[in-house]
Amino acid sequence: MNAVIAIIAAYLIGSISFAVVVSRLFGLSDPRTYGSKNPGATNVLRSGNKAAAALTLLGDGFKGWLAVWLAMFFQQKFELSSDTIAAVALAVFIGHLWPVFFKFVGGKGVATALGVLLALNIWLGLATFVTWLVVAYAFRYSSLAALIAALFAPFYYGLLFGADLTLLAVAIMSGLLIYRHGANIGNLMRGKESRIGSKKK
Ligand code: G3P
Repeated sequence: MNAVIAIIAAYLIGSISFAVVVSRLFGLSDPRTYGSKNPGATNVLRSGNKAAAALTLLGDGFKGWLAVWLAMFFQQKFELSSDTIAAVALAVFIGHLWPVFFKFVGGKGVATALGVLLALNIWLGLATFVTWLVVAYAFRYSSLAALIAALFAPFYYGLLFGADLTLLAVAIMSGLLIYRHGANIGNLMRGKESRIGSKKK
């Protein structure tokens, strides 16, 4: 029962779309109406408001981190297994992609995945983040950086911890993240993807 409550709580935490909440607080247009129409930090940046984009990134990252950290912190008290922690990691991510509070129209999961990975293990999170940074710096495409980082994350996990159910959760997370970037992959292949910092259309 505790496991079910933890997984549902994680899904609900993930369902808070900081792109929409922060944009409302800043009096900006709904990010689902411009640019890539994605409720995420990269698209909020297209509004031209860097503070709102940074807050979106922090909020979406923090909720991923928080859900996993809480489950790990209370693991013994509520007798949660490590498989439940893996399910919690996936649940908060799924909440971001298909949020119950926003008619199941969510984001692509980059910041939330990073928060999850940082909570699972700091080195796992940092290695994935550095991968994102290197690709983003080199090519100026947020989506390409996310796609490459998502491909590497399960390998980093496997190297650090070997094969277990959490590896499966990380691999599913990466698979879903790549799936949600379908339009970006098409744009990248056609040379139409917008670079980091370009304004909304
Ligand atoms: O944060 C998601 C990013 O990888 C792509 O976002 O708005 O360019 O589709 P966007």
